[in-house]
Amino acid sequence: MAGGIGSRFWPMSTQKFPKQFQDILGTGRTMIQQTYDRISQLLPAENIYVITNKEYVELSQSQLPEVPAENIVGEPMMKNTAACNIYMASKIAAKSPDANIIVLPADHLIVKEKTFLEKVSYAFGLASQHDYLITLGITPTRPDTGYGYIQFIDTPGKEISKVKTFTEKPSLEIAKTFLESGDFLWNSGIFVWNVKSIYSAFENYLPEMCEQFSSCEYNSDRESQCVELIYPKVTKISIDNGILERANNVYVIPADLGWSDLGTWTSVYENAEKDSQKNAVNSKYVMTYNSKGNVVRLKNSSKAVVLDGLKDYIIVDTDKALLICPRANDQLIKQYVQDIKNLK
Ligand code: GDD
Ligand code: MG
Repeated sequence: MAGGIGSRFWPMSTQKFPKQFQDILGTGRTMIQQTYDRISQLLPAENIYVITNKEYVELSQSQLPEVPAENIVGEPMMKNTAACNIYMASKIAAKSPDANIIVLPADHLIVKEKTFLEKVSYAFGLASQHDYLITLGITPTRPDTGYGYIQFIDTPGKEISKVKTFTEKPSLEIAKTFLESGDFLWNSGIFVWNVKSIYSAFENYLPEMCEQFSSCEYNSDRESQCVELIYPKVTKISIDNGILERANNVYVIPADLGWSDLGTWTSVYENAEKDSQKNAVNSKYVMTYNSKGNVVRLKNSSKAVVLDGLKDYIIVDTDKALLICPRANDQLIKQYVQDIKNLK
């Protein structure tokens, strides 16, 4: 899934050039390329699909030349992740009605690749035998309101547990209670299921969307025209709100993956190198005085910047925009972007 615009990651991530197509951590590979590199160790390139906005199809093709062009699918508009999941499940089912699918967000950092591959292989085995909707679960480290929280039925000695409750993006107060209880995992947003299981979940919980997508002839010349007609009518909802919060066959595999959703400036701050004052700065021309815990990202790294008396701030300077905001407000950036759009 690579169709988001990463608006909480503004101004580095923009509608023209979203974060999944950028080399956020300076590794030499963009986020979507790293996602491809990881999963291509398990799957052949012809079984890898990219679902993105039609605006990013060319960008995806140029960054992933190994993936067959017909597997890079453009959506006519952004409808969040439920629509792109039923679209891909329908398209894949038309080719292989028994396929197992792994759904991967294109913007995650995973340090422990070996563990990731082991857990995914295990999940594939289960998905082919059971009607399970499987997610990989991460031990939470902070009351982040940008994630889904999973409470599960603990089965000691078992690698997989049944999910009791799934709460997508709770309020800060509730996230704090979840974290303190020690009973919860974060939803990694990485899902494994059989195409039949996800299809019947859509039939049960988003029947209208399921019916809309069932009207197209996939992998034919008529597919894109048909999809163009459906999209404007489709409900905008995430797979988390639409399916995972509602279904009663959700299972979680706890996985210590060295995982991070590089979705916010806080996550970049946590994963970046920091100086002795815990400032994460990407240029030697940033001078800091009496300043602590800031993340500074400059597009023009030779611009001189002075920080004095600033604590726990995000400072991002690009050609088009300058952001200065407390780190604690990083979830509000999505709103700032909306407000700027309304200004124009
Ligand atoms: N094709 C397509 N179309 N992709 C999309 C769309 C869309 O309309 N909207 C988002 N995506 C892609 C994003 O590019 C990203 O790779 C992935 O889908 C997830 O979307 P996000 O917008 O990043 O979701 P989130 O981070 O708020 O929440 C999800 O991930 C968290 C962990 O990272 C949820 O699954 C949470 O429960 C989870 O904790
Ligand atoms: Mg995300």
